[in-house]
Amino acid sequence: MVNFKEIGLVNTREMFAKAIKGGYAIPAFNFNNMEQLQAIVKASAETKSPVILQVSKGARNYANATLLRYLAEGAVEYAKELGWAKPQIVLHLDHGDSYELCKDCVDMGFSSVMIDGSSLPYEENIALTKKVVEYAHKYDVTVEAELGVLAGVEDEVQSEESHYTKPEEVIDFATRTGCDSLAISIGTSHGAYKFKPEQCTRDPKTGRLVPPPLAFDVLDAVMEKLPGFPIVLHGSSSVPQEYVDIINANGGKLPDAVGIPEEQLRLAAKSAVCKINIDSDSRLAFTAAVRQTLANKPAEFDPRKYCGPARDLMEELYRNKIVNVLGSNGKAE
Ligand code: G3H
Ligand code: 13P
Ligand code: ZN
Repeated sequence: MVNFKEIGLVNTREMFAKAIKGGYAIPAFNFNNMEQLQAIVKASAETKSPVILQVSKGARNYANATLLRYLAEGAVEYAKELGWAKPQIVLHLDHGDSYELCKDCVDMGFSSVMIDGSSLPYEENIALTKKVVEYAHKYDVTVEAELGVLAGVEDEVQSEESHYTKPEEVIDFATRTGCDSLAISIGTSHGAYKFKPEQCTRDPKTGRLVPPPLAFDVLDAVMEKLPGFPIVLHGSSSVPQEYVDIINANGGKLPDAVGIPEEQLRLAAKSAVCKINIDSDSRLAFTAAVRQTLANKPAEFDPRKYCGPARDLMEELYRNKIVNVLGSNGKAE
């Protein structure tokens, strides 16, 4: 058993309170490998942005849970080496699907966990979330819960349709569970295909899909019910079309991939939305750089020669999110 404080991590409590007051959001970036982590830490340290390192159940299975946890501990030391004297880094479990998984992460030094009971009946979601909160709070670990269903794939949880969060439920849910933050459904979804072409219009000049707006009325209603309560947005990748184009021009096949426009995320970041989850954009940047490098240098077989450019492109992406979309730069001097 190791407590997150012993390894220099912080929980989300103070971070979220400051973000809501300051009208910005904290980036929550998923990582599965060393290159992603290096890029996240470098971008956060150089911009002095608080950051949430997210690990999914799938990431733990892919990379080994112990190794990931030590990578995160290494991230704190790396951040200091980069000149960030007091790194504000959270290690967070993304989409925990059981009490046991959340407990394991708390015991392993995570400073924050998500229990995702959104696919369960309401009362079961409450009971499971409450049980996780009771355990996590003993160790000062903060807990994110979810109400409402996002379309798409969340690890093994898959849903065809999204169901917006019902604002009339949020007071009861937050009060009875004691959760520290709430992920809500307002039209975002996971992955690189957030909307079906028939849900979008097309830009006549470029032929690109233009997605429908998010349900800001639902967000407003939630904020009215729970003033000042930390809200989380999942599925917030923008699916940059320049990456999609590079992938498609170099042997990939991602037709009609579409994400959430940056202007909508900027708007959300100014509200009580204080954590914005981004995973797919990093996958796209990585894949674009690897495909392009290998296409240009077919004789290359040293992974450092194509993972290096992938790391550089991800770093640029993370920096752009921090500085130009979420506004979290300079908030952790
Ligand atoms: O919520 C989904 C995240 O992007 C994590 O994805 O379960 O494939 O690691 P994953
Ligand atoms: P994206 O697929 O939009 O990057 O969302 C990631 C996410 O919500 C992780 O929990
Ligand atoms: Zn998610």
